Amino acid sequence: MKKLTTIATVLTFIGVSFSATTIAGGQVKDVKDWNTGEGEQSVAMKLAPNRENGIEVYEVCSACHLLEGWGMDNGTFPQLAGQHKNVLIKQLADIRALNRDNPTMYPFALPESIGDEQAIADVTDYIAKLPMNPNNGKGEGNNLALGQKLYKDNCVQCHMENGEGDQEKFYPKIQGQHYAYMLRQFEWIRDGKRRNANPDMVKQIAGFNDDDMKAVIDFVSRIPVPKSDVAPVGWINPDYD
Ligand code: HEC
Ligand code: HEC
Repeated sequence: MKKLTTIATVLTFIGVSFSATTIAGGQVKDVKDWNTGEGEQSVAMKLAPNRENGIEVYEVCSACHLLEGWGMDNGTFPQLAGQHKNVLIKQLADIRALNRDNPTMYPFALPESIGDEQAIADVTDYIAKLPMNPNNGKGEGNNLALGQKLYKDNCVQCHMENGEGDQEKFYPKIQGQHYAYMLRQFEWIRDGKRRNANPDMVKQIAGFNDDDMKAVIDFVSRIPVPKSDVAPVGWINPDYD
């Protein structure tokens, strides 16, 4: 019962969070270095995670990212399951520090809502170990040869051969992620709207037009995820029975 109440409370708050947009948007900070590693990020990286608390904290997140951490095909909410822990810590810390705009999520991610750096360490460790969505959202599939070529020439050096990213370098895993979410992020990174973006990626994709962008993201959305990382179809997270 407690769980259901928490989720209902979170959902009630979503309406409120939109009015918080302007407040959060007003405190825009300039991010000179995309990954200083300072603040909560460096503290959370050093803490030993507590799984029980991770499960409890994640319940708040599940109102949007779903109990399985799979997000939504339409891209509103990204898949989090299976993402590198370091990447999750950085993104969560960036969102809390307003280095990455996320007005919808911001109120739920704050220390008052989930706790301090220990909560970051606990929930990210829990999420990183969740099995991934067996059926992520894909693009239209009509320009995959171009997408593959663009990927090889412009993305492999950071996101690796199969979109697996790099935990140590904070390069996100993009294999298995929803097409619509990635398209939005890619566009924001290209156009300078995602303030924690990696400046070398921004340079690398500066010449991409919208068709290039769709083709490469479509290709990425179809890169197979290793079987050992994927949940069976219809899997339900047993931690919230
Ligand atoms: C009210 C809805 C909502 C809640 C609750 C929420 N999120 Fe999010 N989250 C979002 C949205 C929307 C995005 C994508 C924002 C964008 O498009 O830039 C996001 C993005 C993220 C990202 C970035 C993912 C990536 O691939 O870069 C992380 C990490 C994340 N959320 C973690 C969490 C955690 C952990 C919690 C719980 C403490 C949480 N979220 C709660 C809505 C929510
Ligand atoms: C120089 C390294 C580099 C290159 C080249 C690069 N990226 Fe990235 N990419 C990153 C980093 C680092 C991030 C995360 C930045 C941050 O911390 O917010 C990222 C973020 C992303 C995201 C958002 C992921 C998420 O979970 O929110 C997508 C999608 C993406 N890259 C796709 C691509 C594609 C497709 C290409 C090639 C056309 C590419 N990137 C080239 C380093 C790179």
